[in-house]
Amino acid sequence: MPVDQHASQPTVLVVDFGAQYAQLIARRVREARVYSEIVPYDITVEEIERRAPAALILSGGPASVFAEGAPHMDPRILTLGIPILGLCYGIQEMALQLGGEIPKTDVGEYGSAKLTVTGPGSSLFAGLPGEQQVWMSHRDSVGTAPAGFTVTACTDTTGIAAMEDPSRKLYATQFHPEVAHTTHGQEILKRFLYDVAGIAPTWTMVNVIDEAVADIRERVGGAKVICGLSGGVDSSVVAALVHRAIGDQLTCVFVDHGLLRLDEGEEVVRVFRDQFQVDLVHVQAQERYLDLLAGVTDPERKRHIIGEEFWKTFFEEATKLEGVRFLAQGTLYPDLIESGGRGAKATAKIKSHHNLIPFPAGVHFDLIEPLKALFKDEVRAVGSELGLPDEIVHRQPFPGPGLAVRIIGDVTAERLDILRRADAIVREEIGAWDTDRGVWQYFAVLPAIRSVGVQGDERTYAHPIIIRAVASADAMTADWARLPHELLATMSNRIINEVEGVNRVAYDITSKPPGTIEWE
Ligand code: XMP
Repeated sequence: MPVDQHASQPTVLVVDFGAQYAQLIARRVREARVYSEIVPYDITVEEIERRAPAALILSGGPASVFAEGAPHMDPRILTLGIPILGLCYGIQEMALQLGGEIPKTDVGEYGSAKLTVTGPGSSLFAGLPGEQQVWMSHRDSVGTAPAGFTVTACTDTTGIAAMEDPSRKLYATQFHPEVAHTTHGQEILKRFLYDVAGIAPTWTMVNVIDEAVADIRERVGGAKVICGLSGGVDSSVVAALVHRAIGDQLTCVFVDHGLLRLDEGEEVVRVFRDQFQVDLVHVQAQERYLDLLAGVTDPERKRHIIGEEFWKTFFEEATKLEGVRFLAQGTLYPDLIESGGRGAKATAKIKSHHNLIPFPAGVHFDLIEPLKALFKDEVRAVGSELGLPDEIVHRQPFPGPGLAVRIIGDVTAERLDILRRADAIVREEIGAWDTDRGVWQYFAVLPAIRSVGVQGDERTYAHPIIIRAVASADAMTADWARLPHELLATMSNRIINEVEGVNRVAYDITSKPPGTIEWE
């Protein structure tokens, strides 16, 4: 199921031979302001013709082209006359299908390599240095290019690091232009997109908004739409976008579970009710959540209670409103892409996700998901373009169950207050220091212990606060941030002096793995 959301844009289809590479390629293409989507390698010729892409990019993949069960695409795709760029596995698939040779050797090439351009007339390398650093990750490589192809670059280990047949608009590289370690990778991709495929860079967030607004208006007509606000980036951008499209026909429901960070609840109300003048139902559910969570210490149980209560409250409010037909949701493109397992049949299957919303019996809304073709950084750009403040658009990842997963043990009003105030200091201090947003996430954690301290003349028996700050690219792995000692000292002093009930501060120096980012 293609997203097919931006059908009016020239589209580049990334043919996925191994999901981990395809997403990055699609993002890089979009960074070059060309719309792209990922399709599985077994896409049919008919489907490609129907989609009429402006170009295809064949992704890398974990498999050897000779491995049993290795993914292969329909060879007729290479004869459609569509400009094609094959990357890594893609160059080998192209060579194999068009009569080139891939000798079986045991010499792979992994990591940085020096590329020498041997075909300076190649459109891919026009104006770029004759020697450049590229990233390689392969075992097999093409030994003899197919008839009609010219070899345009090599490395010490790989004789055919790039090849092309301009008459058929077929181009390929053994290296990965999509990764940052390939110094001129983005330039090479742009040359393929703009010069070889002749695509104009028209994919901008302004266009995205205009198209989404037109789509929403057409679909919704005069009906009413409801949207659940959490204070997070995705739901905020959806709300702002749908509001731009249909104004008063949108009602937002903000279930304030009291587990947000300091002032976040007020910020949601200020932005949506006061700035955007959205019809906002603000459900103050703090007391109810505290009752439900009293005495609950098991993290899974906390999560379950909070999630269940959220939807219950949301649907109670939603069904009170008359004439609502649609529910707007912040589903993103990565939510829809299910990664194929390594070595397994590589896929970019689109998950059926519509059953994820636990509609109560007898309740149904049609879904509107205006962000479902977008990556997170694009959603942020749309949010800024729509006028949402930086605090929302650049908000750090924050668990749905909120501070409840950063309080170990009992969640009480008193413990929430301690954590919230300590967390505000951590965010203020690291935020002022980390102005270029190099640190992925930083926050405070309240563990379920007390320790002895001395403040003034008095012995104290109070709470420690743990500071967690990590560097990460995607939260899958992370390393603890090397914060300056002075910054740690400032935070420690401020937290102990300003937050009553805290007499000790510790810094978490655990990477992920083996630790996780959150404590729970
Ligand atoms: P862990 O703790 O597993 O967290 O290393 C990885 C990332 O996920 C965030 N996180 C959540 N995000 N709902 C969310 O939207 C949740 O329930 C949730 N739990 C963890 C976490 O903050 C980190 O960025």
